[in-house]
Amino acid sequence: MKFLLSRGQLYTSYINMAPMRNKWKKTAIQRLPTSGEPFDGPVGSLVWGRIPGQPWWPGITVDGQDCGMPDISSDHKWVFWLEDRRVSKVQSKWVQHFKDRYSLYFDSTRKGKIYESAVVQAIKVYAKHLGHESGKWTNKQALKWADGGFQQNGVRKVEGVTPVPLSHVIQDDLQLIRKCVERSKQNNGSSPIKNSVQHGKQNNEPSRKRRSSISSVSELKTDVQYDDLAKVKSGEMSIRRLCLGCKSAEVKIVGEHPYFEGSLCKICMEALKKHCFEFGDDGIHTHCAICSRAGRVYVCDRPGCCKVYCTPCIEVLAAEGAKMLIEKMQPWQCFLCSDVRPTVNGIITPRHESVILSRITALFSLDKIPLFCGDDLPLSEDGLPLVSSNRKNGLRVLSLFDGISTGLFALDKLQIEVEKYYASEVDGDAINVSKLNFKDKIEYVGPVETLNLRKLKALGRIDLLLGGSPCTELSLANPVRKGLFDTDASGSLFFEYFRVLVTLRMLQGNCMYWLFENTAAMPCSMKATISRYLGRNPTVFDAAWLSAQHRTRLFWGNIPGWGKKVAKCNVKLDDCLIPGLNRIAAVDMIRTVTTNSNSLRQGKTMTHPVRMNGKEDTLWITELERVFGFETHYTDTGNLGISKRQQLLGRAWSVHVAVHLMKPLQSVFKKRNTKQGYRRVII
Ligand SMILES: C[S@@+](CC[C@H](N)C(=O)[O-])C[C@H]1O[C@@H](n2cnc3c(N)ncnc32)[C@H](O)[C@@H]1O
Ligand SMILES: [Zn+2]
Ligand SMILES: [Zn+2]
Ligand SMILES: [Zn+2]
Repeated sequence: MKFLLSRGQLYTSYINMAPMRNKWKKTAIQRLPTSGEPFDGPVGSLVWGRIPGQPWWPGITVDGQDCGMPDISSDHKWVFWLEDRRVSKVQSKWVQHFKDRYSLYFDSTRKGKIYESAVVQAIKVYAKHLGHESGKWTNKQALKWADGGFQQNGVRKVEGVTPVPLSHVIQDDLQLIRKCVERSKQNNGSSPIKNSVQHGKQNNEPSRKRRSSISSVSELKTDVQYDDLAKVKSGEMSIRRLCLGCKSAEVKIVGEHPYFEGSLCKICMEALKKHCFEFGDDGIHTHCAICSRAGRVYVCDRPGCCKVYCTPCIEVLAAEGAKMLIEKMQPWQCFLCSDVRPTVNGIITPRHESVILSRITALFSLDKIPLFCGDDLPLSEDGLPLVSSNRKNGLRVLSLFDGISTGLFALDKLQIEVEKYYASEVDGDAINVSKLNFKDKIEYVGPVETLNLRKLKALGRIDLLLGGSPCTELSLANPVRKGLFDTDASGSLFFEYFRVLVTLRMLQGNCMYWLFENTAAMPCSMKATISRYLGRNPTVFDAAWLSAQHRTRLFWGNIPGWGKKVAKCNVKLDDCLIPGLNRIAAVDMIRTVTTNSNSLRQGKTMTHPVRMNGKEDTLWITELERVFGFETHYTDTGNLGISKRQQLLGRAWSVHVAVHLMKPLQSVFKKRNTKQGYRRVII
């Protein structure tokens, strides 16, 4: 069975859906189908809410205006569903106080990360409001505190418990929803949801399930027929005129869909940009590869892919009866992973692999934000910017957030003479790994915050500023991320990079290359903020284009040549396994490795990626080092355990990508004249 539970966040289909879940409906309904007294707490209250036919789910009551919705009568409330991040209109009698009804409505037998995460998020918000430092609580701690009766922190006096303050993340979501509603109003000049298609309407017969889930907002609904889709299917209209996201040609098309033939309107394009690199903890995409919506999805069984397709897309775009065929296919390889099968594909036509690659890169093209004045470097004969003089010099690097010195490793591979490599890092284990490998080639300069003007001046000329600040607080994978602006959290370290960049430019007049890296799975608003500070948009790069692992990252910088097409190379996981031990790769490519050991498991079955002597086996850490492009035992220092070594790698850059991005520097800087590199030979 390929259904997953409801996935991730969604904002384009915000109105017509309650959080959609399956499997567990029965228990939830049996437990508590009853409503209570109509809720009349203020906006911003933490509540349980329920849409008929759906189970209770934690949410926050919001002001319709805050999210672009119309005013409603007092017997209804607008509820923002936690984790699902959609807004629904709910009858007040189906809205109940979160704390009061917690023991009644919380279904601890209910499986599913999104549900648990939503409940935990609600508990933490509540606990914070009662004066607890709940931000760092584990799920277990949060649930335990709630089970213990929501005790107030004795130290802090709290007045009342509602409304709870809305976190930045929730405020961002509401703002996004409002923007989308406003945009679609402008686009259509009519109901805000004209853009959202009522799926299952193909035969003018809405499915029962759908009808019940939208009944509470039915007066808002304008039925959209699939007229445009029918024209495409009959050959009357080119698919290029159709937005594959909203299945309409009445919207303003802003570009082509990167994966499939067809186009996208502005809202759907934004949704795609936001979600195309977003994965759940299980390494599976959170949003449909076609329309970028969440909901019930089919998961591609090819572990290296893990793309998902929503039921509505399959119902209306794939061939008739495809849904049943897909359900029967075991395993099912998605539209991008298998050859086109007319009986299944319908009008879903994948683009050629090389086209996809350049389209995805183009989505994040560098041309939209004006460059900082003077950021362009003088050019050499071959058109590359020159640093410091016409003569080729050795390279002087300052690497912030240096980790395990992937930057130096890559420069060494490129045989560029590194005259000086300053590094800022605070993790002792990471420093030990680098020291062991590069001995005294690296000069550590302390935590990034300590790099004041005087210290930076003392470093002398810097030709290349590297840095990839911690991403935990920025990542969409972290539902309680604190973002860029919380000065107590690591997300704000980006501004340290920015500060150093600006200071060095001031000191040496812009003649410097720079590269900043971070996760691709961050909200668009953060991407935009970073881009505004750095003066340009990022380019996106997936290590899968050059190696046997997925690792999609954003890169900002001024090293030329990044927009160029990458010749995809065909390294497979098998090439990275330790030879001679009968180890065989079960997948071609592994999913993004994080600091979590589970991330080494693959696909929705969470299997290990290797088979040894016929049995499943985990990927060894030495093999993971090879996957990243390091040499075997690169992280083998002292008594460093396997999980710590994985953590160091889980934070690191892919060597293949770092080499690719810094390669243009070869023609600007001196070639290393010693045959032997900077790495120490480890015995
Ligand atoms: C995303 S990792 C970068 C890893 C690196 N690019 C690599 O390839 O190994 C971020 C690094 O920033 C380091 N870090 C965190 N706070 C820091 C600070 N205040 N100053 C310098 N480095 C810091 C962390 O220890 C971590 O190694
Ligand atoms: Zn659209
Ligand atoms: Zn879809
Ligand atoms: Zn696939």
